Amino acid sequence: MRSVAWDYDRHLLKMIDQRQLPSIFTIAEFTDFRHVATAIQDMYVRGAPAIGAAAAFGMALAARQSQATGREALLRDLEAAAQTLKATRPTAVNLFWAIDRMLRVAAREEIIHADDIRQAILAEAQQLADEDVAINKRMAENGAALVKNGDTILHHCNTGSLATVDWGTALGVVRRANEQGKNIHVLLDETRPALQGARLSAWECEQYNIPYTLIADNAAGHYMRTGQVDICFVGSDRTAANGDVANKIGTYKLAVVAKENGIPFFPVVPTSTVDLSLPSGDDIPIEERDPAEITDVTLFGRPIAPKNAKVGNPAFDVTPHKYVTGIVTEHSVVYPPFEISLRRVVEAEQNKLVKQA
Ligand code: MRU
Repeated sequence: MRSVAWDYDRHLLKMIDQRQLPSIFTIAEFTDFRHVATAIQDMYVRGAPAIGAAAAFGMALAARQSQATGREALLRDLEAAAQTLKATRPTAVNLFWAIDRMLRVAAREEIIHADDIRQAILAEAQQLADEDVAINKRMAENGAALVKNGDTILHHCNTGSLATVDWGTALGVVRRANEQGKNIHVLLDETRPALQGARLSAWECEQYNIPYTLIADNAAGHYMRTGQVDICFVGSDRTAANGDVANKIGTYKLAVVAKENGIPFFPVVPTSTVDLSLPSGDDIPIEERDPAEITDVTLFGRPIAPKNAKVGNPAFDVTPHKYVTGIVTEHSVVYPPFEISLRRVVEAEQNKLVKQA
């Protein structure tokens, strides 16, 4: 099933509750856009493309919830809902991209009646979700072409079906290579502090029969230095125009060690995650999350840190493009200089969408 999906019979949003996995598979239902905002913030739904789709459907809910009968009043309510949804997580650009896309559709001059705006937003959110799945499958094909028979792949965080509407980005590449019978093995970083690798990627690998080994984040360097990794695939929450990649905390360290050991390092990035307005990764806002994510963990039934420990909890880091071998997009795999190659494929995909509209 899709991680984010609209229920057309009951007019509500359904999302897999990722906080419960791998112990419990449960589907949460949403009729209020404010609850969608909380679900994004608290990571019931997470992963850049999934957050974007959740926010898009959140806008459709906001349109339904609005009592407005006229166009202007509805647009004002939608603007307010957009601000609430945008205030949830700052790093993943798909959030802002998806909400702005819904606002643009709502503001189309040819749509006059409030109910037609409501319908148009839902249709656009559905299209965005459908496109996400199709884009992921194209990226999977492009990325799997880089995988050789028998490769061991290093993967960070969760970038699979759960992080997207369906299929996935980096883990989607792994899934496709596995389907192609390439006899691959994947090393999954557990990905502290929220453990998306252990909780979610390991669960997904079991769903798709992908052979995996779960490793502590700190072990990745050892596996790379001892020749046990052939290629790295990671996701991205926002990629700057120069190819600097913001992704789950710990990605930077992996990329540096990969380069030191001559291991190719490929972020898998839909063009919707590329932010051409930012010249470099230094301009990407990095989310700082609740210290409790680090301290409220127990080992042998006891807390792992002193009660008043001072905590730093950046959720993402930036990998400078000099550590990036190439970037897998739905268009093609691009290589340095990224200022030129990345812009070319982003613009090509944007033009395609404009022609289809
Ligand atoms: O904090 P999260 O779990 O939302 O972070 C997710 C990641 O860092 C992923 O690698 C990224 O969103 C790309 S996955 C499609």
